[in-house]
Amino acid sequence: MKNIIAFAGSNSKNSINKQLVVYSNSLLDAADSKLLDLNDFEVPMYGIDLENESGIPENANKLNNLLADADGIILSLAEHNGSYAAVFKNIFDWMSRIDKEVFKNKPMLLMTTSPGGRGGAGVLAAAKSTFPHLGGNIIADFSLPSFYDNFKDGNLINKEFDQQLKSAIADFENSL
Ligand SMILES: Cc1cc2nc3c(=O)[nH]c(=O)nc-3n(C[C@H](O)[C@H](O)[C@H](O)COP(=O)(O)O)c2cc1C
Repeated sequence: MKNIIAFAGSNSKNSINKQLVVYSNSLLDAADSKLLDLNDFEVPMYGIDLENESGIPENANKLNNLLADADGIILSLAEHNGSYAAVFKNIFDWMSRIDKEVFKNKPMLLMTTSPGGRGGAGVLAAAKSTFPHLGGNIIADFSLPSFYDNFKDGNLINKEFDQQLKSAIADFENSL
């Protein structure tokens, strides 16, 4: 069994991106996924002075090691003001100081969702342009707009989006 690390770029207890990750995990055929929560990887606000004084926080090293040991990554990013939620950007910045290849060229399924009609298109575009320079190997991406209309009780109820997601997951699994 392949070992997948799956998490949302959010620290919300009710994260809709985490809900999408959980659903995606349930669709995996040939892989075992480990669901992480960024709340378990709290790190101080990145700053060059703090880094020089105190080094890299243990939780950034922990997440870095988990990605290094994984066969693939499932990540769904929350969108805040058109880009990454601060909690994701912060640990991502710390990890880039350990290893510029943050995502270690592991096959990645990249997703976004938001309550709005653009489904996190801004953060998806940011990630698609940036991650490849940081060891990101995005095999497939998927964006779910209008989360609360399309997702109910743990399931993607819109058949068209469900098909799109299943096809993205098949591409991702085939690349493992
Ligand atoms: C500070 C802030 C900024 C936001 N900016 C956007 C935005 O630019 N685009 C968008 O679609 N939703 C935006 N939202 C709504 C989020 O998509 C929504 O809160 C969503 O639940 C976040 O994902 P999460 O539940 O996985 O944390 C914003 C929410 C907050 C709190």
